[in-house]
Amino acid sequence: MVAGLKRLEYRGYDSAGVAVLADGGLAMAKRAGKLVNLEKALGDRPLPAGTTALGHTRWATHGPPNDANAHPHLDDSGRVAVVHNGIIENFAALRTELAGRGHVLRSDTDTETVAHLLAEEFSSCADLGEAMRLVCRRLEGAFTLVAVHADAPGVVVGARRNSPLVVGVGEGEAFLASDVAAFIAHTRSAVELGQDQVVEVRRDAVAVTGFDGRPARGRAYHVDWDVSAAEKGGYDYFMLKEIAEQPKAVADTLLGRIDEAGSLVLDELRISASELCEVDKVVIVACGTAFHAGLIAKYAIEHWTRIPCEVELASEFRYRDPILGARTLTVAISQSGETMDTLMALRHAREQGSKVLAICNTNGSTIPRESDAVLYTHAGPEIAVASTKAFLTQLVACYLVALYLGQVRGTQWGDEVRAVIRDLAGIADAVERVLATMEPVRALARTLADKRTVLFLGRHVGHPVALEGALKLKELAYMHAEGFAAGELKHGPIALIEADVPVVVVVPSPAGRSLLHDKIVSNIQEIRARGARTIVIAEEGDEAVVPYADHLIRVPATPTLLQPLVAAVPLQVFACELATVRGNEVDQPRNLAKSVTVE
Ligand code: F6R
Repeated sequence: MVAGLKRLEYRGYDSAGVAVLADGGLAMAKRAGKLVNLEKALGDRPLPAGTTALGHTRWATHGPPNDANAHPHLDDSGRVAVVHNGIIENFAALRTELAGRGHVLRSDTDTETVAHLLAEEFSSCADLGEAMRLVCRRLEGAFTLVAVHADAPGVVVGARRNSPLVVGVGEGEAFLASDVAAFIAHTRSAVELGQDQVVEVRRDAVAVTGFDGRPARGRAYHVDWDVSAAEKGGYDYFMLKEIAEQPKAVADTLLGRIDEAGSLVLDELRISASELCEVDKVVIVACGTAFHAGLIAKYAIEHWTRIPCEVELASEFRYRDPILGARTLTVAISQSGETMDTLMALRHAREQGSKVLAICNTNGSTIPRESDAVLYTHAGPEIAVASTKAFLTQLVACYLVALYLGQVRGTQWGDEVRAVIRDLAGIADAVERVLATMEPVRALARTLADKRTVLFLGRHVGHPVALEGALKLKELAYMHAEGFAAGELKHGPIALIEADVPVVVVVPSPAGRSLLHDKIVSNIQEIRARGARTIVIAEEGDEAVVPYADHLIRVPATPTLLQPLVAAVPLQVFACELATVRGNEVDQPRNLAKSVTVE
């Protein structure tokens, strides 16, 4: 159980707990803080052995992360145990109702209400599955629930609405988890539950129903990675491993997308060529790093297809009444496929008649399931909270979508598409070369550990790269960092420049758009004249930047539009090293969680 929780710890890590059905009752342990605290408690006072158990690692929403608020939660009699992800929005009314019937609530959580409600329903129907269905019909909000009852040994019941739950089907054993990583060491056969479904899992049987009790089926699939992919493999941090895996991730995401004639085939796309020809606007919705991938995609989509493209933070999207219709293609980018803001944005887009294409890294997750089409990135599991390899593969997928749109609409000739594909095929090697030259970047990062602020500048696609560099530094090193469009600097932010403030500048290729390049070289001179310490990322052979770079980071020459694939990598390494020297938890930065399944 603890081994499974370890693999889920990236999803939330402020407290953890387990409960075991044993000797006709329930035994439980829970602790605030990281899983190691729970492990220590279990080492000091082991729980009795049992074959039915549940556990949880928490990212607090209701109530601070202390022992009492850690999951599982029990009913008054201590015979029902529940774990929960998500938010039960009507929990205040439920708490008042339960208190009115004499229940004693021992935590501040919304989850505990479910334990009491389940106990009540079970006492009249003596069927844990039915009790769960009855309770779920009363709950509002988002939830994955898993429960056991000491009077129903041998069965574990799960339920889901707007939050993930997968079943692992082993031989004579079964698992329920929010992510296959939890059980991948035991089985690669998974069943993904649909929206508003309840599952009853027994040693050798899995039964699925809707909340209304009607029999239903989950989608069975085989997980195409194994346990080694979910382990650190000799690296100190998952983040380092995932940075190193980027060449493979990029190459894997390109695999099988080109036919013998050199045309792009996106079989999984499930939106017909004629529908794509009708598209008159592309809207990209995403959060955080995935949003930055979307910002870069806009340049490629508009350049290659001449279709207007908007990029919007998913959390803002539906609140501004966006203009969408049957000819709008909405692209939802999400590594986890579970980000609630992105899910809500895509639902809004579909309600307005837009087709939705998901770009996603997680098979069996909610966002692709609710989209009209999906293009999977093949980054493998990304476990470090800060996104790295998923970002690069999201970019590759975006370029593929842009090229495909250009191909089916005839705005790109076959040889133009093939030329870009060739460039993309060379990126894995280019990233490998970047990775091989990162020691000076790490050394530089170590000298900046005491800085208060780091600024990032870029133009064109370099601007989102600058935003991404700043985000990585904020979340990992807890330093103030901001990304700006280099040309915007003189409209205000240049006032931030003072002696020795580090400024990272992403310089576009001098070959592609020389005007762009010349402008940014001027911007570097402007900030250097005001005392900035310039850290310049420029392609090999770009000599114009040399006189103005206090530190020069070389990346292989790439076409301008594809440069983010190489330019982002030193920024990941830079942030990771700064986090390390500042003594931060690289894989699990404070206050964050990998899948943000609440709005
Ligand atoms: C930053 C980071 C986050 C995610 C964002 C979206 O390093 O990882 O900003 O990119 O939370 O997550 P997904 O892609 O899972 O929707």
